[in-house]
This record gives sequence, structure tokens and C-alpha cells, in this order.
Amino acid sequence: MKGLILSGGKGTRLYPLTYTSAKQLIPVANKPVLFRVIEAIRDAEINDIGIVVGDTAEEIMKAVGKGNRWDVGITYIPQEQPLGLAHAVKISRDFLGDERFVMFLGDNVIQGGISPLIAQFAQSDWNSQIVLKQVAQPEQYGVAELDQDNRILRLIEKPKSPPSDLALVGIYMFDEHIHTAVNSIKPSWRGELEITDAIQWLVDQKYRVYPYVHSGWWIDTGRPGDMLEANSLVLEELTPLIEGYVDRDSEVDCRVTIQKGAEIINSVVRGPTIIGERTRIVNSYVGPFTSIYHDVTVEDSEIERSIILEHSVVRDIPARIQGSLIGRHVDLARSPIKPKAYKLTLGDHSQVGIL
Ligand code: G1P
Repeated sequence: MKGLILSGGKGTRLYPLTYTSAKQLIPVANKPVLFRVIEAIRDAEINDIGIVVGDTAEEIMKAVGKGNRWDVGITYIPQEQPLGLAHAVKISRDFLGDERFVMFLGDNVIQGGISPLIAQFAQSDWNSQIVLKQVAQPEQYGVAELDQDNRILRLIEKPKSPPSDLALVGIYMFDEHIHTAVNSIKPSWRGELEITDAIQWLVDQKYRVYPYVHSGWWIDTGRPGDMLEANSLVLEELTPLIEGYVDRDSEVDCRVTIQKGAEIINSVVRGPTIIGERTRIVNSYVGPFTSIYHDVTVEDSEIERSIILEHSVVRDIPARIQGSLIGRHVDLARSPIKPKAYKLTLGDHSQVGIL
């Protein structure tokens, strides 16, 4: 069995963070979302993984490399334009051959425990398995209608009046018949070859497509709020580990992970929280559901339920920072220079809430 990860797309809803970087590489609990997807596939004992890449190919290839870190082999498949998930399958034909495969969207975060399901499909004679999840706003997704015996009746992409609240989460398993399916469908109203239509084709041709309704959480990390939500959920599941230094004047509770080379000086850190490698927390408070990535300094400040990316500095901020997503190399500090005023250099699409 092979793995196929879709990692194209511009990530416009996460601007400005994704002007300069791929959305799949934004870390959740200090690990890029894409790395979590690779690990889920590797845990299902699949070691041959293709990654479909678009505009951000270079950055993704630099971060993931050949896959040695996970003991898997990675093949990159360039997609010149984002023409749909079924199009991504089409251009991956040579890589996939006639093998069974699992396809994952590279920006989705799902609660652990999905790997046995994939391994089970590898051994089965089903033609396809799709993962569904009850959601509050099914009209934003592909939606499945099941009959009383839990068989798939119909799949519709972003229906105006959804027939159920079961969304297709971005995890699909296929055998070689999907290749005929993706060649038999036409682009949708949004001009994309929809994987939902290809699966509907399999259902119409009486191939065996099984639905699996996932009961854990699942987050499609499209917007900043989704990133914070995914971050909180993953932090809740993290096994705490203290590898850095905590001085005697600090108070660090039991659900905190402190990575190598990090220093906590005269500060209070409440979990679930992760502090990255070589990051310094000095005279500060870091509250629950916060992920601070590597090489960051937080000094004389308070922060909670937030994500800070690498090489940023937060210093001497008078109010507590909450619900914030702070990018790379950001300098957020109280300025000693008169006049006493806000001095901002913000990228396009930045969002700032001021007291
Ligand atoms: C895609 C699929 C949709 C699925 C969703 C999950 O939507 O087309 O069926 O429910 O991913 O994230 P898109 O992200 O392209 O709007």
C-alpha cells in the first residue's frame, strides 16, 4: 500500500502567515501539520509516500527532504495548478501504479488512532473506504448520505441543502479503480475535478465503498481560529516531557513540555503547553493551550491560548496576549522611544486587536 499526501494550495485564509510559507508547515504543538500526516501514514506501516506539491514545493521539499527522519521514502509530484483532488490522483498515476493507497489532505489534523483503519483497508478487498465526521456546517464540505444499513447512497460536494451532517474528512482509501473514476468525471462548478464525484462514480458502478464514521476530533486548519483549536486539542494529548532548564523561582505544572535547550526563568507556565528548543521564558506567565516554537524569547509578558512561531520576540507587553497567532521573526515589544504611541510594521492581511 502507498500513501499520497496533497500539499499544494496557497493557504489564502491564513494570510499573512502563508505569504511566505506553506500552510502545511505551520506547527501545531510545535510540529508541522504535514509531519503529523506523514507520521500517521508511517504508523500504518506504509513507507512509500508521494507528496503532491504546488507553489510552495521548494519549501515543502526543504522541510521534509527524502523522508529519512521517518524511515519512509518520499516522491514529490508537482501539480502545476490546483485543479482538484481528483486531478491530484490523476497526475500521481505513475507513482501509484495499481497499488492500493491512502490519500490524506496535508492540512488536516485528526485525533490519533486512524492508522489501524488504514492498515485494515490494506488487507481488505474493498475498493474504497472514506472517513466521515459529523460536523456543524456540512455545507462547507463534501457530504455523504447513508442508508439505514450505513451504505453510501450519495456524495455531494458543498451541497446548499446538505442531506446529512456527515462530512468527508480529508482521508480516503482506494484501489486501482479510482484511476478509471478520475478519468470518467467532469470538472465541477468550481472548475475542479472533485474526488467526491470520483467516489460517487465508484458507488454508481457498484464498487464497494465503505464509510467509516470517525468519533474523535478532526480539524481542517484553514483559518487562524482552526489552528488555535487544533493546537489546543493536540496539546491535550501530548505526553509532557521536561528536557530544558527550569530555574528554582519558576513554577511549571505537570502538563508542560519543555524542549531541549529551552530555559524558564522566574516564570509561571501552566499546561497543556509546549515550549520549543532554545526558547527563553523570562519573568513571564505562559498560560494553557500555548505553543511557543523554537528560538523565541518571551520576557516580562503574559500569553495564553496562542501560537508563536520561531525566532520571534515578545517583550514587556502590558496586557495579556490571548488567542493570537504570531509569525516568524516577529518583534513585539514596548518601545522606550517617545512619543508614546503604537509603532507598527504589519504585513498585508495582518489582524491586530488593541486595548
Ligand atoms: C475538500 C474536499 C471536501 C472535503 C474537504 C475536507 O474540500 O473537496 O469534500 O470535505 O476537503 O477538508 P476543499 O478543501 O477543497 O474545499
